[in-house]
Parts: sequence; structure tokens; C-alpha cells
Amino acid sequence: MVDNNQKVLTNAAGIPVPSNTVSKSVGKQGPLLLEDYTLLKKMAHFNRERIPERVVHAIGSGAYGTFTVTDDITRYTKAKLFSEVGKQTEIFARFSTVAKSKGGSDIYRDLRGFAVKFYTEDGNWDMVGNNTPIFFMRDPIKFMDFIRSQKEHPKEHWRHDQMWWDFWSLTPETIHQVLWLMGDRGAPMGWRHMNGYGSHTFSLINEANERIWVKFHFKTDQGNKFFTDEQWRKLQGIEPRWAAKDLYNAIEEGNYPSWTMHIQTMTDEQAQNFKWNPFDLTKWVNVAKKLLKTKCSYSATFLQN
Ligand code: HEM
Repeated sequence: MVDNNQKVLTNAAGIPVPSNTVSKSVGKQGPLLLEDYTLLKKMAHFNRERIPERVVHAIGSGAYGTFTVTDDITRYTKAKLFSEVGKQTEIFARFSTVAKSKGGSDIYRDLRGFAVKFYTEDGNWDMVGNNTPIFFMRDPIKFMDFIRSQKEHPKEHWRHDQMWWDFWSLTPETIHQVLWLMGDRGAPMGWRHMNGYGSHTFSLINEANERIWVKFHFKTDQGNKFFTDEQWRKLQGIEPRWAAKDLYNAIEEGNYPSWTMHIQTMTDEQAQNFKWNPFDLTKWVNVAKKLLKTKCSYSATFLQN
């Protein structure tokens, strides 16, 4: 249904819906139908809208912004989002830590979530990334065991270093990510001074319906900066939400952070012949080597926290 301002009513995924106040029925007096997707969606949202706590990524900060296309990548994609240089799309970004529970500090050593929602005219597009281009494992069935090793122990209710190392040492494919985590990237100086990576290999389809494999990298224009162990350990006791405050204050002062989005591309043929499986999330290839590289843009002007 189009309202007086000619705006299209959509559901949370950006898909147009006819109405959110009238359910589908069999005739005027007939029963309501369980096939009514909009009714089910609305109920499902309502049932879950008070979130007690996310099991991972419980601590985070978000901000609205704008995505601007700076380079032409239409040879790879027909998505309207990238249709012309200069085109702008509204976005929302949420930065998060992973393991600690609600109320914890946002500057301890951990991976960071980097989730961006693009409000495109084709519907909402979610890029759920991290601040590293790789991950601990390639098989999601191990994720639950891994996260349990990171969370508070069910008996004592504190986190045990031994549980993490137990899991990591028994799961050798985690070593690459563990090295990143225990290096500088595991303690970024707040949300503004870290990169974001879509990490997974996605595909883009162009007008000729040709597919290209792609990875998305968001490079911070503020520069990568890190805390030393001594710094974050001390600071988290004084200012547990240091990262939230840093982002909030920067935005309030009009000092809007921004990131530049790059893509790495690979043809099907290159993927088939590559030295390892390019869909394996525990591995990564340096942008400058081997792969084609092009740059589109991401200039996020954050409007609010
Ligand atoms: C191994 C498989 C994985 C599983 C089973 C998994 C599971 C989850 C779950 C259950 C949540 C919480 C959702 C909620 O309560 O709202 C979550 C959040 C999140 N995950 Fe994963 N995850 C996996 C891998 C990844 C990877 C590889 C990335 C990055 C590329 C990632 C990035 C994120 C982010 C950024 C969030 C928070 C999103 C937000 O800010 O709203 N996850 N994940």
C-alpha cells in the first residue's frame, strides 16, 4: 500500500507489504489465515522484541550513516546499491565485542563484531562482519562448543582461561584466528580505529548474469590503533564503556568516523584452481597479491549512537 507521501510500507527486511493493520481472511467474515506472512512476522517480532541478552555480541554500539559509491563496479554487479558513482544509501552499523555478557567492558581482548545494514531500494542487505578477515573454524557445528568455552563457567560464573585454551588446542584450525586475537587486532582502541571484514566469500551477479566471488573489506580512515594489554586492563576498570563513549563523543563533536569499503574478486576458474579452498573461513589472502582488486566506497557519516 502506498501512503500519501508515496512511501512504500515494508517489513523489517525491507520487503513491501500491503498492510500491517489488517490480517488476511477468507472473505469478510471468514477465519484469519495462518498463511498470512505479515501477521506471523509481526507476532514473531513482538514475542522476541524484549531481548534478555544475546548469547554472543551482547555489548555494542550503533550509529546511522551513509554509503557512497566512489568507483564503478557495475561490471561485477547489477545490484542497484552500486549502480552509479555518487549514489548514496542509508546504513546502520553496529560494533560489538563477542564473549562477555551484558554490563561488561567493551575494550577487553576479544574479536569485534562489525555489522552493517544497508537500506537499499532492493530491500535491506546485512553484512555481518568481524574486525578480522578470518574465523576460528570453518564448520558452524563447532561454534556452540567454542562459545561455551568463552562464556562464564556454569558452576562458578566466571570465565576460565583454561576452557579457551582447551578448545583452541584441541581444534587446530583455530590457530590463525588465535594469533590475530592475541596480537594487536585483539585489542583495538575503540570502534573507530579498527577495520571490518565481511570475512565470508560472497557472490556478485552482473547484468549478463555472470557470477564473481567477492570479499568485502572496510578499512578505517581513522587508522588502525591498538591498546597495550596494560592499557586496556587498567582502562576497563575506570571506563568500562570506553569504546561507546569514544564513538559517541566523536559524533557529538561532528568528528564523524568513516571507513572505505574495498572488494576482493575471484572468478570461478581462479577459485577452482586456487592453492587452497577460497571458501574456507580460516584462511585469507592479502589483498594486494593474487586477487583482482577494485575499490568502491564507504563513507559513513554517523548521525547518532
Ligand atoms: C560459526 C558460525 C557462527 C554462528 C553459529 C554464529 C552465531 C551467532 C549468534 C547466535 C549471534 C547472536 C544473534 C542475536 O542474538 O541477535 C551472532 C551474532 C553476530 N555474529 Fe555470528 N556466528 C557465527 C559466525 C560469525 C562470523 C564468521 C562472523 C563474522 C564474519 C559473525 C559475526 C557476527 C556479528 C557481527 C554478530 C552481531 C550482529 C549485530 O551486531 O547485530 N559471526 N552470531
